[in-house]
Amino acid sequence: MEKKFRKIGVLTSGGDAPGMNCVIKAVTCAAIDMGVEVVGILGGYSGLINDRIRPLSKLDVADIVARGGTFLYSDRCDEFKTEEGMQKAIATCKKHNIDGIIAIGGDGTFRGATDLSIRGVPCIGVSGTIDNDITATDITVGYDTAMNSVLALGDRLRDTCESHCRCNVIEVMGRHAGYIAIETGLALNAIGVAINEFPFDKEAMYKRMKASQKAGQRSFIVVVAEGLGAEFSEGLVKEIEENTGIETRFVRPAHIVRGGIPTLADRNFAARSGYKAVELLLQGVSDVVICSRHGEIVPVEIKYALIVDRMYKGKLKEYDLDGFSDKQIAEMEALCAERRKYFTDMYKIVNSICC
Ligand code: F6P
Repeated sequence: MEKKFRKIGVLTSGGDAPGMNCVIKAVTCAAIDMGVEVVGILGGYSGLINDRIRPLSKLDVADIVARGGTFLYSDRCDEFKTEEGMQKAIATCKKHNIDGIIAIGGDGTFRGATDLSIRGVPCIGVSGTIDNDITATDITVGYDTAMNSVLALGDRLRDTCESHCRCNVIEVMGRHAGYIAIETGLALNAIGVAINEFPFDKEAMYKRMKASQKAGQRSFIVVVAEGLGAEFSEGLVKEIEENTGIETRFVRPAHIVRGGIPTLADRNFAARSGYKAVELLLQGVSDVVICSRHGEIVPVEIKYALIVDRMYKGKLKEYDLDGFSDKQIAEMEALCAERRKYFTDMYKIVNSICC
């Protein structure tokens, strides 16, 4: 039988991402529209533990869609990983009659949502991370804006490189994932893109740089994913100079690309995800994350999403696949293969057309 929802909570957790506010807005307005009250939980799971709750009206969220960051604040909360912390969070839900939660964030956030769901507080996850590192979804809220921010910075660097006949190495965020790096690398016409997912052939890049320079090219951009480490990205500057003779500078935009006005793509994906999350939660669905698959907004069981991530990273534990059908395992393998093919294809194009 469907549970009758009186009130739902919404929170943002983990690293913030542009577009999180658009999810909050969609969740708040959709729930109120469907006859359910909404409260904001301030500061992620730690706000749930420490009873930092505020009611949300449509008016409260009316003008937040163009704002970066998260107006509910965010946190990475270790206490929530303990049973004691979890019980405090559940007590807060009981105190405020919170019947369900929509948790916006990345994989850590979804793990928390599962822990709450299995203890009787239904939760649905919505992606909010610039890294796009959730294998079950094609895109995450915040990814598009972050890429466009890198693009704007890279275009400026190109201008000054062109004037001074230089190369610029840009190290971009993404944690261990190279999505931001490979996409912006292609868009910026980067002569080299170094990511964790694919072996980086420095010698081939130096060769391409020298050939382009000989043909008259004055400016070069190299994009490096932060997952390769500071030693790698900073060290590359000197190596490029030594191997090509091209004067090279280094930029690490870091958190700059995590802030800023969300793009249309992020806003609308956020709105569609938030709406779907409310719809499903009120229908009695829980313990799922809202994903985008080939343009469609679909729920995916959180356990499935976390395991397919581990499969993709080659980090499956012994009993991880227990309980999944052969069909589901085949689907997971296909998803991982799709991701690998994406990187292989992108790398081939970058190395072929960027100069
Ligand atoms: O997950 C988002 C992210 O910005 C990563 O790209 C980056 O590695 C990490 O968070 C930085 O974390 P913090 O904000 O704690 O420095």
